[in-house]
Amino acid sequence: MFITFEGPEGSGKTSHIPALAGWLMEQGRVVHTVREPGGTSIGEQIRQVIHDLKNTEMNPRTEALLYQAARAQVVAEVLRPRLSAGEIILCDRYFDSTLAYQGYGHQVIPLDDLRQIIRFATGGLTPDLTILLDLDVEVGLARKGKQDEWNRLDAFTVDFHRRVRAGYHELLKLEPERWTVVDASQPWEVVQQDLRAVLTKKIDQR
Ligand code: TMP
Repeated sequence: MFITFEGPEGSGKTSHIPALAGWLMEQGRVVHTVREPGGTSIGEQIRQVIHDLKNTEMNPRTEALLYQAARAQVVAEVLRPRLSAGEIILCDRYFDSTLAYQGYGHQVIPLDDLRQIIRFATGGLTPDLTILLDLDVEVGLARKGKQDEWNRLDAFTVDFHRRVRAGYHELLKLEPERWTVVDASQPWEVVQQDLRAVLTKKIDQR
């Protein structure tokens, strides 16, 4: 089962995913966590190029393609083999981030163009469930500022990040059956409980 987590900066995906994986493994399930961009040696190298604060001249199309390059690698090297083996994959961001950030955020590349390069990179691999950890943009950026990794995209304007969040809401309207929204402004333990309830329901449906 392929589960992806999306959300604006500072929404807590990175701390919630390992906790969910531990909880699922205690139940005897085979779980693999992965982050995008990354999840492979090549993907982590691409991540450094995309996120390097020095790369201020990066064109949005270059950025979009680099994300797809990292994605093609993780799909082929990690996601498809593990999904075929019946594992549960918890993925910190996937193609909806490209639509939200490179599409709604930058507003220079048509969404249909992005969908084409996404399809090229993924071969059509689509999540079974996508969870939006939804949070006010200013709150998220303030949270994120307190942590270590501050990347080139975090440094974009607040308006950019507002468009990203609004973009997520547009995306979930298009495919409501794939998405679930969790309110990430709640205390961490409550968010974690909500996430566990969502996953339990999805796994039980199978
Ligand atoms: P994060 O792992 O700290 O969330 O950083 C990933 C950053 O990359 C975040 O700012 C969102 C951005 N991103 C995109 O813009 N497009 C993408 O396709 C992906 C996967 C991430």
